[in-house]
Amino acid sequence: MKHHDVIIIGAGAAGLMCAATAGYRGRDVLVLDNAKQAGRKILISGGGRCNFTNQKVEPHQFICGNPHFVKSALARYRSSDFIELVERHGIEYHERDHGQLFCNDSAKDIVTMLMTECEWAGVKIKLRTEILSVNKTDNGFLLTTSNGELSCQSLVVATGGLSMPKLGATPYGYKLAEQFGLTVLPTSAGLVPFTWHADQKVRFEALSGIAVPATITAQDGTQFSEALLFTHRGLSGPAVLQISNYWQAGEAISINLLPGENALEKIELALKNHPKQSLRNTLSHWLPKRLVEALFEETQLDKALNQLGHGEREQLAASLNNWSIIMNGTEGYRTAEVTLGGVDTNELSSKTMEAKNVPGLYFIGEVMDVSGWLGGFNFQWAWSSGVAAGQAV
Ligand code: FDA
Repeated sequence: MKHHDVIIIGAGAAGLMCAATAGYRGRDVLVLDNAKQAGRKILISGGGRCNFTNQKVEPHQFICGNPHFVKSALARYRSSDFIELVERHGIEYHERDHGQLFCNDSAKDIVTMLMTECEWAGVKIKLRTEILSVNKTDNGFLLTTSNGELSCQSLVVATGGLSMPKLGATPYGYKLAEQFGLTVLPTSAGLVPFTWHADQKVRFEALSGIAVPATITAQDGTQFSEALLFTHRGLSGPAVLQISNYWQAGEAISINLLPGENALEKIELALKNHPKQSLRNTLSHWLPKRLVEALFEETQLDKALNQLGHGEREQLAASLNNWSIIMNGTEGYRTAEVTLGGVDTNELSSKTMEAKNVPGLYFIGEVMDVSGWLGGFNFQWAWSSGVAAGQAV
C-alpha cells in the first residue's frame, strides 16, 4: 500500500491550491479526483474567462453561519497574493465592474497555472479515481479507492458543492463529514436565477431578454444594485443572483426599478411639466415600454397624468420604487453557481481548516458552509482556505 503525507480529495480550485502549498513545504502530496479532468468548474467559470478574484475582498461578502470564521484565512492569503501569482505566470487579465478580475484570454490559463504550480511542487494527481471508503487509523487515514488502497497522515476534503451536477458535483464531502461526526448545515442553491409562478409566467414571459438597472432588497435588508434580467423562466442577472443568497423560500423581494431616484418626485415633476401626457408615454421614458405595459393596467396607462389622483400617483411610485414580488423558487443546483450551507465551520479551525475533533482531517473550499458574493469571491475563498490548510497539513 502506498503511503502519502497528504491526500487531497478533489482536484478543483481549493484542492489544487492546497496541494501546491503543501508540496512546496516538502510534503508528499497526492490529489485524487473522480473526474477525467482537473478544475472543470474553473474552466467554465466567468463565461470561460474565470473571474478569479476581486480587487476588494472583505469578510462581509461571505455568507457563513459563523461570520468571523473567514477572517483569518482571507487575511493571510489575500486577493493581492493571488493576483501576484497570476502575474508571475504571465497571465493577462482585466478588471470589470465592482473590482472583478477576469482572464483576458481563457479560464484555461488559471487551470494551467495551478497544474504547473502543482508540478513544480512535486504534487501527484490521479484522476478517474473513485473513493470507495475512508477509515481513521492510529496515525492517519486509510482510503480504499478504485485504484487500490492508500494511506495518509492528513486528509483534505475539497470536493466542492452540489451546483452543476453535470460537471461531476457530488455530496461526497458532506457524507465524509457526517461519517466523522461533523455537522453539515442544510444546503441550498446560491447565486441562482429565480423562477416564475404560473400566473407570473403568463404576465412576464414576453419580457425575456429585457435588462434594467435595479436595486433588489431581501427581507433581511440586504441590498444589491446591479442589472436585473427578465428570462423565460423568471428573473436573473447579477442583482438577482446576488440576492438569491439571502432569500428564503416564500419570501418577497423588493425591486426598485428606478434606483437612486424618487419615483413620486419624478411623477409630480412630469405632471407639472406635461400634465396631458399619458402615463404610458411618461413611464416609457424611464423604463422599457414592454416592461411598463406588463407592470400596469391598460386603462391606467391610457390616462393623462392630470387624470391620476394623488393616491394613484403614490401607488404608482411605490410600484416603481418598491415592486414587491414573491417568486416561485430558484432554478436549483442545475444552474446555481454555488451551494449555500455545508460543513459547519464551528467544528473547524479557522486558521488551518482542520476538524477540531478529528486531528488530520481538513475541509476546504465550497464544501464548507462558506459562500461568497458574485464577483470572484468564491474562488478567493477556495484559494485562501486552500492555502490555510496547505500550510498546516
Ligand atoms: P470545485 O467544484 O472547484 O472542485 C471540486 C472537485 O472535487 C472537482 O474536481 C470534483 O470533480 C471533485 N469531486 C467531487 N466529488 C468527488 C468525489 N466523490 N470523489 C472524487 N472527487 C470528487 N466563482 C468565482 O469566484 N468566480 C467565477 O467566475 C465563478 N464562475 C462560476 C461559474 C459556474 C457556472 C459555476 C457552477 C461556479 C462558478 N463559480 C465562480 C464558483 C466556483 O467555481 C466554486 O466556488 C469553486 O470552484 C469552488 O472550489 P472547490 O475547489 O471547493 O470546488
